[in-house]
Amino acid sequence: MKVLIIGATSAVAKQFARLRAEQGDQLYLIARNESKLQEFSQDLGACVVGSSCFNFIETEQAQSEIVKAQQSLGQIDLVLFAHGLLPTQAQTETELEAMLQTFSVNLVSVIALLNPLHLLLQAQASPAKIAVITSVAGDRGRPRNFTYGAAKGGLGLYLEGLRSKYICSGIELYNIKLGPTDTPMTVDHEKNGTFITADKAAALINKGLKGRNYTLYVPGFWRWIMLAVKLMPEWLFQRLKFLSAP
Ligand SMILES: NC(=O)c1ccc[n+]([C@@H]2O[C@H](COP(=O)([O-])OP(=O)(O)OC[C@H]3O[C@@H](n4cnc5c(N)ncnc54)[C@H](OP(=O)(O)O)[C@@H]3O)[C@@H](O)[C@H]2O)c1
Repeated sequence: MKVLIIGATSAVAKQFARLRAEQGDQLYLIARNESKLQEFSQDLGACVVGSSCFNFIETEQAQSEIVKAQQSLGQIDLVLFAHGLLPTQAQTETELEAMLQTFSVNLVSVIALLNPLHLLLQAQASPAKIAVITSVAGDRGRPRNFTYGAAKGGLGLYLEGLRSKYICSGIELYNIKLGPTDTPMTVDHEKNGTFITADKAAALINKGLKGRNYTLYVPGFWRWIMLAVKLMPEWLFQRLKFLSAP
């Protein structure tokens, strides 16, 4: 398969790329940091047919980067979006730049890449899958991370619309609702029993992409936890401090 990985230097994306390389896929990698990407590409070897670097918030570059990837791969069978930014909630409320970056990276930059990508895939003769990592944080506004959650939840809504637009066509869209994962993003977070490794997250994503469950909770138990959390009336949610504490 020909696989495009966007945000390829993220811990989860790197494990996913390794899995796809083992499966014999050809990869095109896009990331921000050139030295990190070069080192990782060399590590993966000949399965990397191309790569490019740019800061994803420079959205005017998005279309040309997607075209470059498609020209390099020839066709695109699978895409994973894996970049993200998680400042502290306090930063996003007190620093305008942190708030803008949260929405630019987690929402606007993804849509800027997604739009030229789906139009290009629509014109492609063969079917394709697009998977976007959002977060369980996007399911309900919690004092701990509601700016990040709003960006990820907004992205989930966008993906839902796009999925309906392409129903019964050759494009399948997955919203990967990832739970807490031990990566550089959560290095300062206190770890509890719900945390999984990047390795495990990548393996579950890879497995999930074989099925037709387009809202994919990773790990799967989050589907049931978040169902209960979403159904809970707000007055109750606010009183359960383990859920609504800052
Ligand atoms: N870790 C968790 O607990 C968790 C939970 C739910 C969802 N998620 C989501 O899972 C995905 C993977 O995250 P991770 O945990 O693997 O995090 P990670 O290792 O910290 O990776 C984050 C990636 O985002 C990239 N990035 C940030 N801002 C960027 C920008 N302006 N332009 C281009 N790239 C940018 C970083 O690039 P650089 O290498 O250049 O810094 C890095 O590769 C993200 O979408 C994240 O929001 C994570």
